[in-house]
Amino acid sequence: MPNPFFLPFSLSRFGALFAAGTVALAACAPAETADRSTGVGYEVPVQPEIATGYQEKPGWTTSEFAVAAANPLATDAGYQVLVAGGTAVDAAIAVQMVLTLVEPQSSGIGGGAFLMNWDGSEIAAYDGREVAPAGADENLFIRADGSPYPFSEARASGLSVGVPGLLAMLEVAHAAHGRLPWADLFTPAITLAEQGFSLSPRLNLILEEDTDLRRDPIARALYYDEDLNPHPVGYNLRNPALAAVLRQVADEGVQAFYHGAIAEDIEARVQGHPERPGTLRASDLAAYPEQDFGRDAICTPWRDWTLCGFPPPSSGHLAVMQMLGILDHLEAAAGEGPGPDARAGAPGLEDGIPSAEWLHRYLEAAKLAFADRARFVGDGLFVDPPARSWESLLDPDYLASRAELVGSRSMGTARAGNPGALSTAFGLQPTQPEAGTSHISIVDADGNAVSMTTTIESGFGARIMSDGGTGLPGGFHLNNELTDFSLTPRDADGLPLANRVEAGKRPRSSMTPTLVFDRETGAFVATVGSPGGAAIIHYVAKALVGMLAWDLNAQEAINLPNFTNSNGPSTLEAGRFPDAVIEALRARGHEIREGDLTSGLQGIQVLPGGGFFGGADPRREGVVMGR
Ligand code: GLY
Repeated sequence: MPNPFFLPFSLSRFGALFAAGTVALAACAPAETADRSTGVGYEVPVQPEIATGYQEKPGWTTSEFAVAAANPLATDAGYQVLVAGGTAVDAAIAVQMVLTLVEPQSSGIGGGAFLMNWDGSEIAAYDGREVAPAGADENLFIRADGSPYPFSEARASGLSVGVPGLLAMLEVAHAAHGRLPWADLFTPAITLAEQGFSLSPRLNLILEEDTDLRRDPIARALYYDEDLNPHPVGYNLRNPALAAVLRQVADEGVQAFYHGAIAEDIEARVQGHPERPGTLRASDLAAYPEQDFGRDAICTPWRDWTLCGFPPPSSGHLAVMQMLGILDHLEAAAGEGPGPDARAGAPGLEDGIPSAEWLHRYLEAAKLAFADRARFVGDGLFVDPPARSWESLLDPDYLASRAELVGSRSMGTARAGNPGALSTAFGLQPTQPEAGTSHISIVDADGNAVSMTTTIESGFGARIMSDGGTGLPGGFHLNNELTDFSLTPRDADGLPLANRVEAGKRPRSSMTPTLVFDRETGAFVATVGSPGGAAIIHYVAKALVGMLAWDLNAQEAINLPNFTNSNGPSTLEAGRFPDAVIEALRARGHEIREGDLTSGLQGIQVLPGGGFFGGADPRREGVVMGR
């Protein structure tokens, strides 16, 4: 029987994107405008099969609006919402609902997100981060013998599931910034969940490699055949339970998720985990929407721009701005700048690759930033910042003192600094694995811009699915966001960690949704962000330096090879750096490793003459669409 997806559309939007191999969204056919019951006019696109690995992306030029997301079907849903006159927030909701279905390993309604919206005059920041249940305490991940669970066991468990925040946050953002009816924004995801979608190569590979997901009965029945092999690439995957849950949320609002059968099923799945049940209860879900989701974005001047990002519980903006600030001090000390004059000949790029000298400085700055992150950063609703302000970590004099610690050789590891008095002495959190996540960048025809990073933490979250109590096949993944807390609450000296588990607290995040503005005029310049666990911080820093300091377009900046350091050895993207650069770093004492470093950056920038230029990461399946 033919796959009902490969219907004979004359020329799909994806056909235009991929067959031509390059080009601009002007080549994209607009969505059909046939008379229909919803305002979105959703048309199921012909679905491409995209290779995994590194696939060159053209970069996309648009004139009115643009949307960038991690999967072509999700991008297309946002595109169709924008065509129908939706705002950037409207489009973000449609994109997110489709991502829940087609990129289930990375984000979804069982997780959380940070969203920033620029409406032409101000930024509204919405915190949809998961919280620890009322029954959780600092010993959540400590076993009877006093030792913490191994990370993989903590992750694949009911213990790691935080109260999902995504839907409640999106409803509040929609009330403030949406134009199209809430229910219409669910049409693409419901349609695709009911009719099925073409399973992508990336999802197939991740299903194959995951060792825990097959143990969840819903996931096993949804994604695998009788021999426990994942369904093949191109398989038409339907998810009736997710369609039913989304329909309920579309029709009744998010109360349908946080109360009643869906909430009860989430509780039952978390508490019914066979080995490591969690503490989450339906009452935790009922309490979640009753809070203030608004946060004050932190806007930080840097050279000719103002960069705006999320405050704690995100560590992302603080770390990025610490690194950029320290780099400026190092460039100034070397007589190279910083400043507009230095920009044209800014040090850093050699033959299109970050130079060994620039990388040395960056990696040292990263160690200093990650040392501060490990000591100071936790949920701002629970943890006092140093000197009563998170911006003390960005104080130019403080960063100058940190830059003085950078010499010509690697410092090995850095110690946290002393940006100001703390009401509590915190210990140093050890490094833990972090992974997963997805990023959405959107600009709409009215000049609104969204930067939203969204996550269920690691691939497929806690490896627990809920069918929302529908009894239908399929469902959605529950996050393992609580492993973004430190598994251990105290350091060896008994000092509490800023990022220890506490009931009602949000785990520290690395998500770094960023909006960029012209420092002098305040005009919007770019929206960018990435998945990638703690490496998000480096991926976003790289894209910002590429676009702003090195004058690359968003695609070129995203393409730059990746590099990371979390205050230990450095990792460089395998096969992307010349041996001479690696050897020069080793000669300065850096411990260099090579790895995949699969970022998933999506960025959109304003073109000088008007219109937009968008880039999507060649390491993942994302695309940009627009008009
Ligand atoms: N779980 C990914 C992050 O919040 O950084």
